[in-house]
Amino acid sequence: MGAPRLETARLTLTWPDDAQVRGYHDAIVGTDMFDTIVWDGPASPEELIEHWRARRDAGPPPVEAPLDLAVIENASGRYVGGVSLRPEDWPEIANVGYAFCPAVHGQGYATEAVGALVDHGFRKRRAERISACVFVGNTASRRVVEKLGFRLEGTARRAVHKRGRWLDEWILAITRPDWEAR
Ligand SMILES: CC(C)(COP(=O)(O)OP(=O)(O)OC[C@H]1O[C@@H](n2cnc3c(N)ncnc32)[C@H](O)[C@@H]1OP(=O)(O)O)[C@@H](O)C(=O)NCCC(=O)NCCS
Repeated sequence: MGAPRLETARLTLTWPDDAQVRGYHDAIVGTDMFDTIVWDGPASPEELIEHWRARRDAGPPPVEAPLDLAVIENASGRYVGGVSLRPEDWPEIANVGYAFCPAVHGQGYATEAVGALVDHGFRKRRAERISACVFVGNTASRRVVEKLGFRLEGTARRAVHKRGRWLDEWILAITRPDWEAR
């Protein structure tokens, strides 16, 4: 079976090849990209390569399983970010995650890629609700999902542990009726 593939004007969301993974690793290690996400980053390029090999070996995920995709910049072929749609207790209830290498911030890539993933969730993965959990203060991330029609539902207090501290998270979500009314 072929790799999942979502296309936008400037980006392709798919599985990366090993050379793209190595380039991404070099572009993200040592940056502040991990300050505002739960993951502290890969220990080595091999760890990332293994992650994607496992995805390829498993084949396209069913709606009950997470959909992890690399974001490839069409103009350069570079792997510049990652997005994932993760079902929670039911396949219809999902959470979205995303991170981009700092070199490409501020060009609308996150909005473009997360928008495509959210549309795919509602069109092809039966989503009824997609949420985003954003560390309080990560205004750029909150802005990304608000531009896509997510609404702030509240603040989950001491919801995540990061580098020895308990942090609060903004909870934002978009429902199928919100999405249909956009
Ligand atoms: C958050 C992140 C995904 C945004 O990526 P991006 O490609 O730069 O996002 P976009 O360009 O699509 O949009 C960013 C929006 O936030 C705004 N923004 C950026 N920095 C901001 C800040 N400090 N305060 C307020 N708004 C800010 C931008 O102006 C833009 O909004 P606009 O189009 O209305 O002007 C990126 O910074 C990132 O990967 N950060 C590290 C990982 C992370 O935090 N992931 C999200 C976890 S919930």
